Amino acid sequence: MARELFLVLIVLELIHLLTLVVDSEPQVPCYFLFGDSLVDSGNNNGFRTAAKANYPPYGIDFPQGVSGRFTNGRTYADIIGQFLGFPNFIPPYATVTTGVNYGSASASAGIREESGSHLTLYKLGARKIAVFGLAHIGCTPTVVTRFDTEGKPCIESVNDAVTRFNDGLKPLVDGLNRDNSEARFTFINFTSILELQGGAPLPNFPCCQVREDGQCIPNSIPCPIRASSIFFDGLHPMAIATRPYNALSPMDASPYDINHLAQL
Ligand SMILES: *[C@@H]1O[C@H](CO)[C@@H](O)[C@H](O)[C@H]1NC(C)=O
Repeated sequence: MARELFLVLIVLELIHLLTLVVDSEPQVPCYFLFGDSLVDSGNNNGFRTAAKANYPPYGIDFPQGVSGRFTNGRTYADIIGQFLGFPNFIPPYATVTTGVNYGSASASAGIREESGSHLTLYKLGARKIAVFGLAHIGCTPTVVTRFDTEGKPCIESVNDAVTRFNDGLKPLVDGLNRDNSEARFTFINFTSILELQGGAPLPNFPCCQVREDGQCIPNSIPCPIRASSIFFDGLHPMAIATRPYNALSPMDASPYDINHLAQL
C-alpha cells in the first residue's frame, strides 16, 4: 500500500540537448518521471498486471479520454509539465530528448536498480530533482474502509508510518543538497499539499464506485460533481493540486517549490 502512493518526481535539466527553438520554451529542456500509479500515463497498459486504469470512468475529464491514468483527468505529473511549459504531456516511454515517464502502478516496473539509469541521467546533466514524500495513506477511502478507524477520520497507525518515512526523507534531501553543489534537490510535502486550508481532514469518499482493490468498477458512473471530491477511486486523488509547483504554505516544499527549482 505504501508503495502504491509513493511518488518520486524528477525534474531534470539536460543542458545542451535542446536544439529546437520553439515559440515559448519550457522552463527546463527535459522532464523525467519516476513514480507509481499517481503519475502513470499508461505504462501499465502494457504490463501483465491487474493494476490498470485503461477503462472508463478513468479519464472521464481527460482530453484524450481513457489513457491508463489512474484518475479522472490529468495526473500531478501532467499538471507540473504544463506549468513547466511543455506543450504536450510526457508520454509513457517517450523519446529521451524531452523526457520519459517511468511512472507505473507497479511502482518499480519502469526502471530497475541494476540498469543504473539514475546515474546515467546524472551523467547526461540531470541537475534539478524534486522528491515527493508520501501522502496520508491512512486517509484514503480504501484504507479507511479496510481497517477500524476507532471513530477517527483516518487510520492513525498508517499515517504514523507515513510521518516516520517523510521525517526521514526530508533530511536525506537536505543532505543531498549539502553534498552536491552542482545539483539541486527539493522535498515536496505530499501530506501538506493534500491538506485543506486550516488543516481540516479531507472528505475521504471516492467519486467512482470502487471494487475490492480500490480501483473503479469498469464502466461505472462516477459522481457528477467531481469538483467536490478529493479522491477519484479508493486510492488515487483527483489531480487538483497545483501546490507542488506553486507552494501555498511554507510546509508544501522545502527548500523550493518546483517553479523556483526550475528557475535556479
Ligand atoms: C509536512 O507538512 C505537515 C503539515 O502540513 C507537517 O506537519 C509535517 O511536519 C511536514 N513534513 C515534513 C517532513 O516537513
